[in-house]
Amino acid sequence: MADIPDIFRAELALPDLAATAQLAGRIAPRLRAGDAVALWGDLGAGKTTLARDILRALGVTEDVPSPTFTLVQTYETAALTVAHYDLYRLKSSRELFELGFREALDDGAALVEWPERAPEYLPDGTLHLRLRIEDGGRAVKITGPSRWDGIA
Ligand SMILES: Nc1ncnc2c1ncn2[C@@H]1O[C@H](COP(=O)(O)OP(=O)(O)OP(=O)(O)O)[C@@H](O)[C@H]1O
Ligand SMILES: [Mg+2]
Repeated sequence: MADIPDIFRAELALPDLAATAQLAGRIAPRLRAGDAVALWGDLGAGKTTLARDILRALGVTEDVPSPTFTLVQTYETAALTVAHYDLYRLKSSRELFELGFREALDDGAALVEWPERAPEYLPDGTLHLRLRIEDGGRAVKITGPSRWDGIA
């Protein structure tokens, strides 16, 4: 049976872009190879913004486009390789396998927008960030293994 890790839970208001960037700045230094970060939320909830801020916090200076059409963009950072997925246009969960998701987690971390398109591919220890629009800003519910305690 799979090991069920202790669960960390938090809820946080992200009233402006600076708050999202600060959360990203706490997540980024804890990212390790094998980590998946699932970014849940409706259109415009702020998934790409948070993913981009995590990559910026890892030192990525190049353009970070939304991978809407390419489905994945990969970044070499000083600490680790990070694959940024947007599964909105995924045709089948099998396609994620073809996009090298397993290898991405062997080699580094993955940030995954629209994880509901292929939830069975998320590893047990996935950090889940559920974003929503609230009062003009955003709010986020976070769940994951207890090693993430302290990011919120
Ligand atoms: N914490 C925040 N406060 C205010 N605005 C925000 C915040 N986070 C993101 N936004 C704004 O929300 C808009 C949509 O953000 P983003 O593109 O990141 O959403 P998304 O969830 O990736 O959408 P999609 O599902 O279309 O990919 C952007 O204009 C962004 O600046
Ligand atoms: Mg997006």
